[in-house]
Formats: sequence, structure tokens, C-alpha cells
Amino acid sequence: MPISRAKNHQEYLEYYRQSLENPEAFWAEEGKRLDWITSYSRAMDASFDPEDYHLNWFVGGCLNVSANCLDRHLSDKPALIWEGDNPDESMVFTFKELHEQVCKFANVLKKQGIQKGDRVILYLPMIPEAAIAMLACTRIGAVHSAVFGGFSPESLASRIADCQAKVIVTANVSLRGGKTIPLKDNVDQALMSPEAQCIQHVIVVQRTLDAVTWAKRNLWYHDLMAEASSDCVAEAMDSEDPLFILYTSGSTGKPKGVLHTTAGYLLHVNMTFDHIFAPNKDSVFWCTADIGWVTGHSYVVYGALSHGCTTLMFEGIPNYPASDRFWQVIDKHHVTHFYTAPTAIRSLIRAGDEYLQTSKRSSLQVLGSVGEPIDPASWQWYSDKVGLGRCPVVDTWWQTENGGIMITPLAGVTSLKPGSATFPFYGIEPALMDADAKEIAGEGSGNLVIKRPWPGQARTLYQNHDRFIETYFSTYPGTYFTGDGCHRDKDGYYWITGRVDDVINVSGHRIGTAEIEAVLDEHPAIVESAVVGFPHEIKGQGIYAYVVLDPNCKDPVTDKQLNDWVRKRVGAIASLDKVQVAAHLPKTRSGKVMRRILRKIAAGEADNLGDLSTLLDPSVVDDLIQGKV
Ligand code: WT7
Repeated sequence: MPISRAKNHQEYLEYYRQSLENPEAFWAEEGKRLDWITSYSRAMDASFDPEDYHLNWFVGGCLNVSANCLDRHLSDKPALIWEGDNPDESMVFTFKELHEQVCKFANVLKKQGIQKGDRVILYLPMIPEAAIAMLACTRIGAVHSAVFGGFSPESLASRIADCQAKVIVTANVSLRGGKTIPLKDNVDQALMSPEAQCIQHVIVVQRTLDAVTWAKRNLWYHDLMAEASSDCVAEAMDSEDPLFILYTSGSTGKPKGVLHTTAGYLLHVNMTFDHIFAPNKDSVFWCTADIGWVTGHSYVVYGALSHGCTTLMFEGIPNYPASDRFWQVIDKHHVTHFYTAPTAIRSLIRAGDEYLQTSKRSSLQVLGSVGEPIDPASWQWYSDKVGLGRCPVVDTWWQTENGGIMITPLAGVTSLKPGSATFPFYGIEPALMDADAKEIAGEGSGNLVIKRPWPGQARTLYQNHDRFIETYFSTYPGTYFTGDGCHRDKDGYYWITGRVDDVINVSGHRIGTAEIEAVLDEHPAIVESAVVGFPHEIKGQGIYAYVVLDPNCKDPVTDKQLNDWVRKRVGAIASLDKVQVAAHLPKTRSGKVMRRILRKIAAGEADNLGDLSTLLDPSVVDDLIQGKV
């Protein structure tokens, strides 16, 4: 039998001990949470051993994700509540209705030639069709790769090319905060790229009556659905068959295609959803993340639905039509569980407490936070003002590569400390490493690693296993390196302090500085650039770009032009908050940019720069501080 929810911290500790002491037996029982077509012979066969690295979970098992999310919950209970950007627009799909739509769209995909293992790109707004398309892919064993609507045509094209997708599902436009974003135009632009010619069909959801330009490979979603049968047998997928790819930024190179597989992922999100949020049969779960990010995959769609819980999907933004929108939606749909990012909380604190007065929020039971460290003051506001002091706040730490939540309180069970993600989830064994790769015992700060495999972790980077090993398993062979710094206090609580690599976290979104630098360096006026993060009141971190201009370039370039250049090539999420023109970048004698110094100057901490003796030319630093060009 799978373990039941812990009733108190003592019980959590007992289950946690079991999960580490006898993992194979533990996971064999937990696997029973899912519906299997063929049951597994062994729950785990996994090791991080550098000599014998392998990750196989639920060996020999066959199952289908859409069947676990829909077929086993078929009823007239609401599965998906959709709230549009415009407060007058909302819709409800029962489990039966969602099942019907998913089966139909699965047949549509089949008819367009999509087979098990084929990749389908989803470039969609937060509309029901996004969840339908994801689940339809899983029904037939196609691998979805969602691309956030805020990414540029160029970023979209490179993702299409990397995974060699055959079909893309999009909408004519996306609506956010009353603004119209031309999604289909972006797709058309992306498809002009020679590297995106693998796309055979573009399926377009008609979100509004706005006109679109039409090409031969374009098909209307509603036309195809009108003819599709609602009978579709769920494909039996092997536990380790690919489920989805999500691209995420790293400290070097192009975004990485993180690949998740079927059984381990689904079990991890199903189990974390249940234990951490403690929903009951009438819960309405609202995770505000976009389905273009992993949080949207794991907790808007797969976690809630596989548990038979009603999930709410919101198309809009927190401050449209006004900054009480979240609270209005909570009252309108009787939301019991609300899961959002610190950046949204900070922006609503800024907007003012008066926006809380137009709602009661009496349905709320649990609040969640994800995506970046939450400062204790924002945590307290969230708990006191939004949750009226009655709702536990679960600060959940995890990453795209992890599949689901890793370090977290269990709602109602864990004693909370504002700003701490508290304790590891079942089966997760974190550790802190010092600069000499030695494990830190007890209280201390270091680099966060995970010492043993867990079911929901990514299995590889799409068609680049070497990069996977290099990125996550080479810094500390035999453990998974998270890229985060972390403090463990005397009571054993974990406090995530942020990235220790060249990745910045802007409004809860991960952006690799190397990616922005590569784009800046292509600008005709720029000789070289360095991008760092700096503390930003709302976004957590902002993007600070140092640029060295080409003295021979005749055209002066403005900050706005550089910002437009980056936004056009990467996407709006990579907007530059500050641009500083520099005469030189601070470099070591071997020519490496000393980013530590740039980060300090960007943060306004130039009086505390530390050791500068390895610099080739220390006077560069004074020029930077004084803004001399
Ligand atoms: C990075 C992962 C999967 C969550 C959405 C972002 C930071 C995430 C927390 C938290 C402190 C957090 C980390 C992590 N992060 N959650 N509760 N407290 N930091 O996924 O884009 O893969 O980013 O987000 O730095 O490494 P992601």
C-alpha cells in the first residue's frame, strides 16, 4: 500500500526514513498510486555511480498518462476550470468532457500522421486546448514540447529544429492583460527558418476572430475536431518511454532539451501533489504558472488531474483589469489551493493592500510558492494578508530537471519558518558540498546536490546525453548537482540561496547569461559583452548587461535598441533592465571575464570587491565603477 499522508512531523520522519532505508520496497508500493496496463517487475533499477550510471524506474511496466489523468476519474466532476483574460470569460470541463476532447484531438494528431515517439510543439496561450493537446499527445505516445508564448520566433525555431518536431499546435493570437500577442505570426516567422522545415502541419486554435495569414500547411483546430471521433484507445507506453521535452537555459550554450519519461515523472507529480498540498475531493487547485514552464506541466495539468482533482487554468495576468484579479478569481471559483511565484506576490504587495478588500478568500486552505527564493517579508504578507493567517504556506523548491517538488513543507504537518523550503520530500536525499567537494555535515552552507536517483528526474537532454552527464553529474561524480546554493540551519531546515552558476532567475524564469551575451555579441556595434543578474525589487533578479562598443562603428546605439535586439532574438523574458557601456571588461591574465566583480558593481556593492590581484588591468574596475567609457 502507498503510504498515507503524514499526520505529524514524527510520521513524516518515519516515512522519510523508510523511503531512504529501503527504497525499492518503498517505490514498489508507491507505484500502486498509478493505473498500470502491465505492472512492473521491479520498482527501481537506478544508480548515479559514475561507472554504472543508469536510471530505470518501474521496469517492465506499461501505462498511459492520459488514462491516469482522465479515464480513471471519468465523472461529471469538474476537471478543468478555465478563466479567461477577460473576467467575463470562463468555462468548465468535467472529467468526461475533457476526456472526450482529448480523445478527439488524439485522433486529429494521428490523422496528421503523428505516431508514437514523434515530437509535437505546443506554442499556445493558457487556454483549455493547451491541456487538451498535452494530454492528447500522451494518449498516443507523442512527445510534447511546450514553448512559452513569450519566446521569440528565433527561439521557437531553434527548439523546433533541436527536437525535429513534425507538428506545431498554436493559436491565432494570445490574450494577456487586454493585449493581443500574435502567436501565429511568430510561428510563421519561425517557419521561414531553414532549420524549421521539419514541421509538416500547423494546427491553429481560433482564440479570437482576428484575421491571420494562411498557408498551405495550416489547419484550423475546430475544423479538424469537428470530424474527429471521440474513441481513442490509450497507447500502452513503457515506463521509460519519453513523455515530454522542455527547453531550459543553462550556464553555457543553447537551451537544453530536458527529457522526462512516463512512469517515474507521473508518480512523482501525483505523489507530491497529494502529500504536499493535501487536497480533498472538493478541492479546486490553482497553479498560476504558464504551461510553457515545468510548473504548468506538473501542477496545472499532470499532478492535479492524475489525482482526480479539479484544476484551474488562468489565461491572464495578476493586475488586469486590476490588481485584485487573483483574489477575484479565488472567490469566483472557490479556489482552495493557490500556488504562485514570489515575483507575483511582490508585485501585488507593491500594488497595495486595498486590492485585497474586494474579496473574501474564505475558500482558501493552502498557499504555495515556487520558482525563486521568497523573502520572509513577502512570505509573511502572503500568509497574513492573502491567507488571513489560516493557511499554511508551502515554499516548494525544485527545478525543470527534477520533474516535481523536491524540498518542501507538507501542508499542515511541517512547522514553517518564513523563507525556508524546510525539508526534503520522500525519497529525496539532499546534501551540501563545500568548495573542496566535501560533504558538509549539520549546520552550514554550500552547493546543493541530490545524492541518489528519484523517479521524477530527467533522464537525459534530448539527443545529448554527454551534455546531460557533463552538466549535472560531473561537478560531483555520483551526485546530481543542482546549480543552487543552500544553507541548512541548526534545526535541519533548508534555505535555498539562489543559483551559484551563470544562470539568473528573473521573475521565477531561468535565463542563461551566456545566451544573452551570444545575442548581444552579434550586434554590429558591440565588440563584447557580459551579462549578470542584480537584485530587483519585483523580479527577484534583473538583467544587467555590460557592453563594449566598437569604436569604428559610426551609428550610435541606444539602450532601447539593444534591448529590442535581445527581445526580438530571445523573447520578452530576456528584457535588459540595465545597460552599461564599458571601455573594457575586467579580465584575468588568462582572459577570463571576472563576473564576480561585475555582479558586485551591478548590485551597488563596489566598495567590497575582494581580491583583484589576478586582474590583468585593475584600473578597468575603477572605470567601471565611475561609469567611464
Ligand atoms: C531554479 C529552477 C520548478 C520550479 C520553477 C522554476 C529556483 C525554484 C525555488 C524555491 C528558492 C527556487 C532555483 C532553481 N527555485 N523554486 N522554492 N526557493 N529557489 O524552474 O526554471 O527549472 O528553475 O529556480 O534556483 O534552481 P526552473
